[in-house]
Amino acid sequence: MALLGKKQEFTYDTGDLKVPVSLGVIMDGNGRWATKRHLPRSAGHRAGAENLKELCRNCGRYGVKYLTVYAFSTENWSRPQDEVEKLMKLFVEFVDRYDPELKEEGVRMRFTGDIAALPEKVKEVIKIEEERSKDRQKMQLIIAFNYGGRREIVYSCQKIAEQIKAGTLEPSDITEQMISDNLYLPDVPDPELIIRPSGELRISNFLLWECAYSEFWISDVLWPDFGYEDLTQAFRDYALRDRRFGGLSKKDSKK
Ligand code: FPP
Repeated sequence: MALLGKKQEFTYDTGDLKVPVSLGVIMDGNGRWATKRHLPRSAGHRAGAENLKELCRNCGRYGVKYLTVYAFSTENWSRPQDEVEKLMKLFVEFVDRYDPELKEEGVRMRFTGDIAALPEKVKEVIKIEEERSKDRQKMQLIIAFNYGGRREIVYSCQKIAEQIKAGTLEPSDITEQMISDNLYLPDVPDPELIIRPSGELRISNFLLWECAYSEFWISDVLWPDFGYEDLTQAFRDYALRDRRFGGLSKKDSKK
């Protein structure tokens, strides 16, 4: 059986770690990884795609249920045309080539973003993959492609505005829950944890609405080098976080 990437063997870490149900990952640093090796940026993206496979395998085995990864933002169109074209091609190749391995791992693939604005070939692959993987139960891999957090919030507002226009909703009745319910994938839980490798300290328009109470885990490792040990360390650190959601710690609230 062909397993997903075999760079690092998975051994379930039984130490004090906490596995989030829903995890977000900003796959940053491919360009720097390639430049350090005197390779073209596209080689970095390719290595990043390989590593995404590895991440899926490790997350699936740890028991993550929803893994949302940032693969192409609404702002990435401003990159050189050649890089954009190569990323589109890589996306098509990734989905097609790795579907059998993801199937072995029980991974359902879904997509979030302004999908309607993507090239025809990309849309076609998305449609096929969503259909052929829809019954897989172990984990959902959600690829954010042509995704922007602000655009997603606008999308939700536009859907709600339609109801107001139809006379079925009063503006004063709009709730936070309604905005959540009208996002691209309303059934996907907000990420408890967001991992950002490569040292940048920003959210870059990723899951803006959904990250309101996400915990962040940042590392200097460049995305193609981010491996099993890094993921395990992120889950260990996550276990130590005190998630108060604006309230008090459990221990303090008992006083
Ligand atoms: C940001 O790093 C990364 C991207 C814009 C692309 C991420 C894409 C992949 C990991 C490829 C796999 C995904 C699919 C499914 C196609 P960067 O290139 O901006 O890195 P830099 O900041 O070092 O230049």
